[in-house]
Amino acid sequence: MTKIFITREVPAEIKRLLTANGHHCSEWTEKRDLSLVELIAAAEDCDGLFSIGSSPKLNQDFFSACDHLKVVALCSVGYDHVDIAAATSHGIPVSNTPGVLSKATADTAFLLMQNVARKAIHKHKEILRNNWGFFDPTADLGVDLQGKTLGIYGLGRIGYEMAKMCRFAFEMPVIYHNRGRNEAAEKDLGAKKVSFTELLQTSDVLSIHANLTDETREMFNLEAFQQMKPSSIFINTARGGLHNEPDLRHALETGLIWGAGLDVTNPEPMAADNPLLNMPTVAILPHIGSATYETRMEMMRLTAQNLLAGLNGQRLLSCVNPDVYGE
Ligand code: DGY
Repeated sequence: MTKIFITREVPAEIKRLLTANGHHCSEWTEKRDLSLVELIAAAEDCDGLFSIGSSPKLNQDFFSACDHLKVVALCSVGYDHVDIAAATSHGIPVSNTPGVLSKATADTAFLLMQNVARKAIHKHKEILRNNWGFFDPTADLGVDLQGKTLGIYGLGRIGYEMAKMCRFAFEMPVIYHNRGRNEAAEKDLGAKKVSFTELLQTSDVLSIHANLTDETREMFNLEAFQQMKPSSIFINTARGGLHNEPDLRHALETGLIWGAGLDVTNPEPMAADNPLLNMPTVAILPHIGSATYETRMEMMRLTAQNLLAGLNGQRLLSCVNPDVYGE
């Protein structure tokens, strides 16, 4: 009998999908991440790994110790926690979950943008501090989003959904910076491809939707923030590693930029005493981009389908290392 190890507890529907196909599943049931040693031990006699969460990292040591695996199915769109080259060198196909979480993640970027623009989290905290107080018509105001320019760094599926909402809700012109062109966004939303410098200098709201790679790591550092408008809002729902957090804090404290909305931080989890949490124009969420019931179920279903395909010796539905098939 083939065996699958799942790094979290999953709903019965997902387990049924796997066991109905004759596979035996075991789950990690503790409310903490496994260590690498524990994961290697758990996967020792398994054929497939259903991997949820980004810790421990699936590194060279993991793939060397677990080169018997027929498939690694990740329940996330991001795979920066996986050494893909190591997986490929051991002939192990790896899948992710693109598409199914695009709308939910874009919703989170949109939510953060509005939160920052209207200082919503800050205002809520003021009520808790018993500071509703005297009505002063010009004190502690937010900013309008109507007609402001949205800049997207990495306009793929999630960026497209964010751009669509901004375009239709607030008539925001859209500019973007990508390696290639996004013709659908240009045609449907009038999006305009610009250089990285123009993106920084022109965006009123700059939202990141790129993968974290060696090339994109800390792209948003002091040098980048220095080129942005003092009135601009920076949004990151992609990966905390795309921005340099001390530089971001400095940019906010010195007025290089006006506000920031983060669903991802560097490191995660963010410490409760991080000064960013107390800034009026900063909104921070604990990496909840895909955290809706419907989206998480879709992600798990897709992960299970990828796993089943891999165990049946078929091509994975969403494979991140197609070169494993010699392509
Ligand atoms: C993803 O799917 O990559 C989300 O960020 C959750 O990790």
